[in-house]
Amino acid sequence: MNTPGSIVPADAKAVKQAARLLREGGVVAFPTETVYGLGADAFNPRAAARVFEIKNRPHFDPLIVHVSGRKQLRLLCEEPGPEAEKLMDLFWPGPLTLVLPKKESVPDIVTSGLPTVAVRMPAHDTALELIRKAKTPLAAPSANPFSYLSPTTAPHVAAQLGARVDLILDGGPCSVGVESTILDVSGGELVLLRSGGISVEEIEKALGRKVSLRAPDPDKVTAPGQLERHYSPRTPLRLVKRHEHAEPGPSAGLLCLRPPGKAPPFAHTEILSVSGDLREAAANLFQCLHRLDAAGLSVIYAEEVPDEGLGRAIMDRLRRAAKTAGGMNGTGSLRDK
Ligand code: TXA
Ligand code: MG
Repeated sequence: MNTPGSIVPADAKAVKQAARLLREGGVVAFPTETVYGLGADAFNPRAAARVFEIKNRPHFDPLIVHVSGRKQLRLLCEEPGPEAEKLMDLFWPGPLTLVLPKKESVPDIVTSGLPTVAVRMPAHDTALELIRKAKTPLAAPSANPFSYLSPTTAPHVAAQLGARVDLILDGGPCSVGVESTILDVSGGELVLLRSGGISVEEIEKALGRKVSLRAPDPDKVTAPGQLERHYSPRTPLRLVKRHEHAEPGPSAGLLCLRPPGKAPPFAHTEILSVSGDLREAAANLFQCLHRLDAAGLSVIYAEEVPDEGLGRAIMDRLRRAAKTAGGMNGTGSLRDK
């Protein structure tokens, strides 16, 4: 028997144990291709309530529900509609979450009382096997305390949430490394709620029409998933156009897309991708930020990356991480689109 907060390799026996815990109303952290999730039975409101409690997450911020396939989706949504079906054909399993009209039976705590439910099918064998064995869709936000850096390894989860979680399944580092793209397909318009592992360009190409980008309203924090400050390290983070604009020093750290040429005098430097590949950079983003945050620095400078493809998801995370609790940190207008 494993004690709460234990990290166990995600073999068949551990997945079986995790599924049993979930059926009994437990909360289990599990790997997905994007980030680690903090899972509970989506049809058990008490278990879902524990997820909010463990994360210290406000109840107005709804959870994503994970399914093992289209058959299970029917438990959550009656009629996804033709465009949603097409997107599922093309991008599931994978890092695309669809916001769909919900069935009455989906508990309000999961959707924060909204008439819609956010659903995705993860492209990860352990996650899929866990959902199948639990025999229920899993409501699972990222397995981090609310507004802190997302976890892309099992030790990240253990360090942040520890014994508050019944079990942590270790499936190694996440291959995509940033959260899923969230697309609202519940109305006539297609609205991007969060950029992520599938680029807007790919979605627009697949559907042959434009996706609207919803600008978050900072005065309306009740808008789900649009909180300005998120994905934040504890160390203050400043965005700079180029690393030459940062102020090196013995307690300053640097996050760069590519190697910065002549090694600058920073206390700690992290490179997202030696070749400058944005997909590889996304996969490394949170790991690099976790290491910088653990390095005892007084400031982290993050160099901007191209705002296209997966770079858009990276820039979204960096812009939000750059917000201080009180508002802007002097980096100019960082409002996400
Ligand atoms: O990649 C991911 O999506 C990861 C892994 C674990 O699957 N999950 C994840 O969940 O990032 P979370 O809770 O950290 O982010 C979910 C976002 C929230 O910002 C929430 O507001 C939004 O999804 N969301 C959930 N349901 C929604 C709904 N019905 N309408 C609009 N936004 C919704
Ligand atoms: Mg999250």
